[in-house]
Amino acid sequence: MRLPLPFAALIALSPGAVHAQAPADKKPGIEAAGYQWNAQEGEKIEALKLKGDPVAGKESFEVCSACHLPSGAGRPDGTFPQLAGQHSTVLIKQIADIRAKLRDNPIMYPFAITLNDSQELANICAYIQTLPIPRDNGNGPGTDLATGKTLFERDCQKCHGPNGAGDAEKFFPVLAGQHYKYMLRQATDIRDGRRRNANPDMVKVIKAYSDKDIDAIVDFMSRLQMPDHHARGAPAAKAKAGGKAKGFPAE
Ligand code: HEC
Ligand code: HEC
Repeated sequence: MRLPLPFAALIALSPGAVHAQAPADKKPGIEAAGYQWNAQEGEKIEALKLKGDPVAGKESFEVCSACHLPSGAGRPDGTFPQLAGQHSTVLIKQIADIRAKLRDNPIMYPFAITLNDSQELANICAYIQTLPIPRDNGNGPGTDLATGKTLFERDCQKCHGPNGAGDAEKFFPVLAGQHYKYMLRQATDIRDGRRRNANPDMVKVIKAYSDKDIDAIVDFMSRLQMPDHHARGAPAAKAKAGGKAKGFPAE
């Protein structure tokens, strides 16, 4: 994501001086002093309370499948993330953040705003959660998996889970089955403050990482598999969509 020019220029001129300002026309995020991660407000909180209808959601997903593919698998080249089997809570948060201009996504934004209301948002996320995680996500080159494992276990596992299953209740995403190249971009953006809706506790741990550390850890993460990895969707069909849902059984 590229910042609008005037803002980028401001940063270049006076680093630190602009930290209390969001880029013009955007919602203040992690760069702002009073940033509160995952504030419970707006259409997100409404969508989380609603019961999503996966059948209606399937229809709404058509516009999304142009980029994310009908399977939800995205692309190994990292342009479009894997979505299938993601917790509906996480999907609702991320899409609501994109719609609110708290997570910058100029490519998807024009499509994200075509969703009519919080019910359509809940429906589409209920549907995506039912899709099985695909088998062929992009992996890294496998250069330094040992370092990746050590860092993951030390700094990331407590939130993302030993198998990359995340936590539906806490809005921690499933990382298992996600593409290496997409995660590489996200992890770098998170470290450098460009993913403006990020969890500050994650930013704290990732801040000290070199590009090489990030590469090793993301390579390791791209190989994580959950026990029900390719079968995800079966429990989701029964699960209640939204914030009250238990999501998937603990993994
Ligand atoms: C024109 C292409 C395009 C379309 C159409 C599109 N997206 Fe996206 N989407 C993207 C891109 C690119 C990203 C990743 C942006 C980034 O790198 O931060 C993304 C990211 C996401 C994410 C965040 C994933 C994560 O792991 O955090 C979700 C959820 C998502 N899209 C859902 C949808 C839904 C639902 C629709 C349909 C309403 C949709 N997208 C339509 C391109 C698209
Ligand atoms: C305090 C909990 C926590 C810790 C610790 C944590 N994460 Fe995260 N991670 C999150 C949350 C929450 C998100 C979703 C972003 C958001 O909306 O805040 C996320 C998102 C991500 C994403 C993007 C996933 C996507 O689908 O877009 C990557 C990559 C990631 N984390 C990597 C890491 C790595 C690497 C570490 C360890 C160095 C780590 N995380 C540590 C909570 C955490």
